[in-house]
Amino acid sequence: MSILKIARMGHPILAGRAQAVIDPARPEVQRLIDDMIATLDDIGGAGLAAPQVHVPLRLVIFRVSPGRAGGEEVPLGVLIDPIVEPLDDETQTAYEGCLSLPGLLGAVPRFARVRYRGLDRDGEPVDQVAEGFHARVVQHECDHLDGILYPKRMADLGKFGFVEELRQNRDEGG
Ligand code: NI
Repeated sequence: MSILKIARMGHPILAGRAQAVIDPARPEVQRLIDDMIATLDDIGGAGLAAPQVHVPLRLVIFRVSPGRAGGEEVPLGVLIDPIVEPLDDETQTAYEGCLSLPGLLGAVPRFARVRYRGLDRDGEPVDQVAEGFHARVVQHECDHLDGILYPKRMADLGKFGFVEELRQNRDEGG
């Protein structure tokens, strides 16, 4: 397994639309998943999307650590060719970060409850309902597959800044 280099905001791979995986059993897809997991374990973080490691495929990994504000634990999961739908109109705004914008945080409105579908790494169907931080991380990671970084989702760019500066002022975690 290899630790992969993360693309940062401004790299064109982060602005494009990623392509469907279709067949997760392909050895290069399985190797990519292993390398993305190793990379996330090395860096730390809640999730990673394939375009962030310079691969334009519709594949994300994510997890919700125990004790994470507003969410139950979700073990590391792989989601391939995902479809995400809000379950209702309610949104929640909370600060989030991104490995492609190191050192920064922004307050981002996200749907409070979503349903997501796709395939796992064995090609088995995934069909889940998520809320809170779990719903947030799924929306954040799947946005990467459409070339969307979180600043594009922000309602108030006054709530965007460096972690060290915001720590004293921000009202919510996540
Ligand atoms: Ni991100």
